[in-house]
Amino acid sequence: MEKQYLSGFGNHFSSEARAGALPADQNSPQRVAHGLYAEQLSGSAFTAPRHHNLYTWLYRIRPSVMHKAFVPMKELTAKTFTKPQHFNPNQMRWNPLNSAESQDFVEGIRTVCGNGGGEEHRGIHVHLYSFNKAMGSRYFMSADGDFLMVPQRGSIQVKTELGIIDAEPGEIVLVPRGMRFQVNPLSSGNCTGYIGENFGSPFQLPELGPIGANGLAHRRHFLAPHAAFEDLEGKFELVGKFADELWSAELNHSPLDVVAWHGNYVPYKYDLRKFNTINTVSFDHPDPSIFTVLTSPSDTAGVANVDFAIFPPRWMVAEHTFRPPYFHRNCMSEYMGLIYGEYDAKTSGGFVPGGGSLHNVYAAHGPDAETFEKASATDLKPVRLSETMAFMFESRTPYRVTDYAMKKDFLQGDYQECWQGFKKGFK
Ligand SMILES: [Fe+2]
Repeated sequence: MEKQYLSGFGNHFSSEARAGALPADQNSPQRVAHGLYAEQLSGSAFTAPRHHNLYTWLYRIRPSVMHKAFVPMKELTAKTFTKPQHFNPNQMRWNPLNSAESQDFVEGIRTVCGNGGGEEHRGIHVHLYSFNKAMGSRYFMSADGDFLMVPQRGSIQVKTELGIIDAEPGEIVLVPRGMRFQVNPLSSGNCTGYIGENFGSPFQLPELGPIGANGLAHRRHFLAPHAAFEDLEGKFELVGKFADELWSAELNHSPLDVVAWHGNYVPYKYDLRKFNTINTVSFDHPDPSIFTVLTSPSDTAGVANVDFAIFPPRWMVAEHTFRPPYFHRNCMSEYMGLIYGEYDAKTSGGFVPGGGSLHNVYAAHGPDAETFEKASATDLKPVRLSETMAFMFESRTPYRVTDYAMKKDFLQGDYQECWQGFKKGFK
C-alpha cells in the first residue's frame, strides 16, 4: 500500500502513532499520556514573527538529551564534509560520483562546493551522495543547515523523528536543521544524488506576483510524514554535524522514538513532476527565476541566499526566438545538477545525469557551440522537451570548491572546449 502523508506547505500539523498520545490542550502537561516525555524542537528564534515562527512539540519515549558525550570524528569529517576553500573563476563541470565501496549515507557524502556556513547562518554547501548500505544503528543530524536531498538514482527511505518519507528520483526531501534522521536505500545498487545544505533562512515558496494564485509548486503537493516511532534498545550512534565537523555520541536506544507530535517544523517531500511550469507563449526566453520551486531569502528583498530552481519537461513554443538558455553573465552564482535526461543548453554531451556544473559569479556561460548552431537554424514548431529534469542552486554568494572537487578523475578538465567552436558570422 502506498504510504500516506500530511499535505501542505507551512501548515501546523498534528500526528500520533498511538491513540491518545497527543495532549489535548497543553504542550507540556505535568504527565504526558503513555508515560511519554514532552520536548520542543525550535526551528526559528522564539521571538521570530508569527509567519516565520517554526517549532514542533515532540512526545517521545525518552528525552533526546539522553546520550553520552560527543567525541570528534576527524577521519570521517576529512573524507566527507570537507571545507569548500578554493575560489575558482573558471566554468567547472564534474562527472557523477559513483563509488563501488560498501558505505552508508554519511560515509558516502562528498562536499563539492559551497559558501557561508552554519556558524553565520548564511549560504549553502552542495554535497553529493553515493551509498548502498543501510545506516543500521547509526543516526544523523546537522546543527548547521537544512538538508535538501535530490535523489538522482535509486529510491531512498528517510526515517526522521517525525516519521518516514520514501522518495524516488524526481522527488526531493527536506529534513530541517537539528532533526535526527537516517537515510537508507529502498532499491538495490547504488543510491546517488545531491544535497543542498541550506544555512540561511528556511526554504519557502516563492512569491507568485503577476502569475496569480496558481502556478509553480502548489502547497498541497508538499507532503509531511505521519508520526512513526522506533522502540529499540541496544547500542546506537548519533553522528552530529556541528560547524562543519562530525561528532559521534553513543546512546542506548533509537533516537527516533517520537510517538506523537504537533507543529510546523517538519520534514517534507515534493514531487518535482507536479511543478506547474510557466513559460512564454509569445517570444524570448524568460529568466530562470520563473522555474523557482523553493527560495531561501536573504536580508535583501528579491536577492536570495539560495533559490532552488528546476528545468522540467515543458513545451517550447516561442516564435522568432533562440529557444535554449541565452548567453549570460550573472551576479549570482549557479551550481547545476541533472537528475535525468538531457539539458537543452548542453546537447553535445558532458553534462550527464549525476554530474554537476558551476558557473561562479560573472563566469560567462550559455549554450555550447553545437546547441547554438542547431537552435539558430531549427524550424520553430512547438516542441516538447520531455523526460528531462535539471536543477540549480543559485546563490547570491560565490561558491568555493573543495580539494575533492579538484580531483582529476572527477573534475572535467576540458569544459571550456564546448565554447571554442563559435564561428564568426559578422561580415
Ligand atoms: Fe546560467
